[in-house]
Parts: sequence; C-alpha cells; structure tokens
Amino acid sequence: MGRAFVYVILGGGVAAGYAALEFTKRGVSPGELCIISEEPVPPYERPALSKGYLLPEAPARLPSFHTCVGANEERLTPKWYKEHGIELVLGSQVKSADVRRKTLLTAAGETISYKILIIATGARALKLEEFGVNGSYAENVCYLRDLADANRLVNVMQSCGGGNAVVIGGGYIGMECAASLVINKINVTMVFPEAHCMARLFTPKISSYYEEYYKSKGVKFIKGTVLSSFDNDSNVKVTAVNLRDGSRLPADMVVVGIGIRPNTSLFEGQLTLEKGGIKVNGHLQSSNSSVYAVGDVAAFPVKLFGETRRLEHVDSARKSARHAVASIMEAGKIGEFDYLPFFYSRVFTSSWQFYGDNSGEVVHFGDYSGSTVGAYWVSNGHLVGSFLEGGTKEEYEAMAKATRVKPVIEDLSELERQGLGFALAV
Ligand code: FDA
Ligand code: NAD
Repeated sequence: MGRAFVYVILGGGVAAGYAALEFTKRGVSPGELCIISEEPVPPYERPALSKGYLLPEAPARLPSFHTCVGANEERLTPKWYKEHGIELVLGSQVKSADVRRKTLLTAAGETISYKILIIATGARALKLEEFGVNGSYAENVCYLRDLADANRLVNVMQSCGGGNAVVIGGGYIGMECAASLVINKINVTMVFPEAHCMARLFTPKISSYYEEYYKSKGVKFIKGTVLSSFDNDSNVKVTAVNLRDGSRLPADMVVVGIGIRPNTSLFEGQLTLEKGGIKVNGHLQSSNSSVYAVGDVAAFPVKLFGETRRLEHVDSARKSARHAVASIMEAGKIGEFDYLPFFYSRVFTSSWQFYGDNSGEVVHFGDYSGSTVGAYWVSNGHLVGSFLEGGTKEEYEAMAKATRVKPVIEDLSELERQGLGFALAV
C-alpha cells in the first residue's frame, strides 16, 4: 500500500504549520502536499502549552491556537487543510525513511513517497532515566512537549491543588511551568544543578532578578544539586524527591524539564548531522538535495555570526520553515536565510525578549530592583546580543534592529550609561 506526493512534510508541529501556509501562498496545487504527524491534531503553536493552556481560568484550548495565529497569520484548522487540498496523515508515526528511494514508512505499514521532503520532526524531551534516575513513569511525574503531556499536567495539577510540586530543571520549561503552578495555587520548589536559573542564556545578574521575582511569588530554589531518587507509594505515585545533597522534598507532583534531543534518528547514516541536528545550507537543504530540514531539528548557518547553529525556539521554526518553502518553490530566486536569533518568554506579568548572541562581555542597564531591565553583549568590539524585560513594541524593535546592525562599541561604560537609549538611537 502506498501513496505519492510532490512535497511531504515529516512532523506536524510549529514548522510544519508555517511551511504549509507558505506553500499555499506560493501556489501549491491540491493533492501535491502531505503532512505526516505522530500527533492526533493539525499543527499548533507549541508555546501555548506552558502558558495559556495551564491557566486555571479560561485556559487556551484547540482550535484557538492552531498555527499560524502566533505570527498574526491565518489559523490553519482541519477545514483549512481540506480546502487547500493538503493531506493530513495524523496520529501516524514514521518508522523508517529511505532518502535514496525517497520513501517513508509509517507505523501502519503505509509507504509514502515524495519528490521533496521537509523534515520538521522537532525534538523530544530528555527523560530522567537518561541521567540514571528511574521513576519517570509514575502517575504524577510530568514532562511537557506535546498536547498529551499538557493534558496530563493539567489533570495532575487539578488533583493536587494547594499541594507541593517539585520542578526539576531551571531552563525554559522549569521557569514557565513553575509560574503556571503558582498561578494554580501549588507550592513550588525548583531544583537544578547550576548556580542560577536559565544558565544557558542569562547572566547571574539577570537570573537573580528573576529568582527574586519568583521568590516574591513563593517559589523556593534549591541550586547546585540534582535529584538522586524518588520515594513512591503503592499506587505508583511519587511522594518525595531525594536530592544528591541528602535532602528530601515531599511532593504531590513533579515536573521535569531537563532539555531536549532533536529527532534525527530516522536519518542517521543517511544525512550529514551537526550540532545534534540535520546540517543544512542557507536554503535549509540537507546533504541530500531532495531533503530539507527546518525548526528544532535543523542546524543551519547563522550568517550574522558566521556559524552553524541549531536553535530551539518558535520564531526560528516559523521563519526557517517559510524560507525552506520559498527556496523550494522559487528555486534560484531566493537568497540565503539570514536569521537574527530571537528568544522570548512570558511568565506571571513579566515578559522578556532576547536577540542575537550571548557571547563576549556583558553590560547591564536599567533598574534591577524595578521593572525595566536589560543587557547588551559585546564581542570583538561589536554589539552582538541584547536583552530587555518589560519593553514596549517599539523598544523591542529597536533592540532587534541594533543587534542586527552589530554597531562598533568602543566604550562599555558609555554603553551602560546610555542603556536602552543606545538601541533607540541606532
Ligand atoms: P515541533 O516539536 O513543534 O514539532 C515536531 C513534530 O514532529 C511533532 O508534531 C511530532 O509529533 C512530530 N514527529 C516527530 N517525529 C515524528 C515521526 N517519526 N513521525 C511522525 N511525526 C513525528 N519557543 C519560543 O521561542 N518561545 C516560547 O515561549 C516557547 N514555549 C514553548 C513551550 C513548550 C511547552 C515547548 C515544548 C516548547 C516551547 N518553545 C518556545 C519551543 C518551540 O515550541 C519549538 O522551538 C518549536 O515547536 C519547534 O518547532 P518544530 O516544528 O521544529 O518542532
Ligand atoms: P533547557 O535546555 O532550557 O533547560 C534544561 C535545564 O535542565 C537546565 O537549565 C538545567 O537546569 C536542567 N538540567 C540539566 N541536567 C539536569 C539533571 N541531570 N538534573 C536536573 N536538572 C538538569 O530545556 P527545557 O527547559 O527542558 O526546555 C525544553 C525545550 O523547550 C527547549 O528547547 C526550550 O528552548 C523549549 N522551550 C522554550 C521556551 C521559550 O523559548 N520561552 C519555553 C518552553 C520551552
């Protein structure tokens, strides 16, 4: 049994949705495009899962956050795909791929062939077992990557109102879930191995700004240690978390956010990999010219920094997907992807944005006991990165523009004195 399409998108997440929209804008014909996804629903804006989806009142639910609402574009409902003649093969895991024969084999035993393949398989959450700790499968231990995880998290949260949650990991999932748990009136203790939260991106000063804010909301921090084991009751529920420093934290639930691994396994040995992802060129094309990769799974050249990077953020998924489709549909007419890395988060009433690269020397500005704080990163005499909490739309745009221009910085103390004004004047 088999079907053939001109274009196949493997994976039905954020990048797939934005790729589909771009295909229709560039004139794909009905019947030419197919999306295969393990998930049972069409592409949606994954960031909603750790924010609006977890609210105790009027939570976000599908269909309200199908792509591409996150970029103020159309909302691609099942009806939209039907109207555009796009085949959705949902709830269907691809088990193997053969890039020489241009075929994919699904778990149901169907062979789907393509002329052009876009790999948009994203990433999977790392499990505690991969760090030598057992117990991930207890009823009240939650991960968060997809809708099924989010539904589980909501159910567990609802069953332990007023109780204690331990959040393992001080990255994006840890920080955003901790805030959501507090909003759901659950007592939160965060545990992570680093000296400060969001260690991959923030400076210690920025981290302590947020840690103080979280503490004011009742969150406790245990830093510089990791969990060593769980205590369980007979119902296979975790009752406490034991830490390597010897302490024991009673727990009604546990949320784990300890990083991800890109889903590359179908293509290992078939395509060139780099930085844990599928290596692509400035057109998002892999080492096989009929195969493109976009989103979390792609390692692409970031022209601005002359380096190949793999980014794990929604803006990069949206834009890399659109660029790949433009390159496919208008071969030879589209330039190389020229992307300015952009990350953001929203928790409680705070909201920050980051542009560029967090390398080199750091200059902080603003009032770190107030609500508008920021930082610049300066490397080899140029501004390469910028961070701002609590900015306006115009201020964020100015930060993005200033970072892209990479202005020469001669005097760090002058940059500090000018603060946000520097970006606004570029
Ligand atoms: P994505 O993970 O979205 O999609 C991959 C798809 O491929 C999934 O549908 C999966 O099931 C499918 N798939 C994988 N293997 C398959 C196979 N073999 N067969 C069939 N289907 C397969 N970023 C940001 O910038 N700001 C934010 O606020 C947030 N917030 C946020 C919250 C939460 C809870 C998560 C998990 C992530 C974020 N992110 C984020 C990150 C952002 O969501 C992420 O970068 C994008 O979803 C990446 O899009 P992709 O399409 O590459 O992967
Ligand atoms: P992360 O890489 O942001 O953070 C992982 C954290 O795990 C580290 O900060 C560290 O504290 C912790 N850790 C590592 N090893 C550990 C161990 N052995 N024991 C305990 N803790 C350990 O990853 P994440 O928070 O799991 O997020 C998953 C993905 O989702 C990322 O790709 C992230 O970009 C994405 N995401 C992004 C946003 C956003 O951009 N606002 C929001 C949510 C999720």
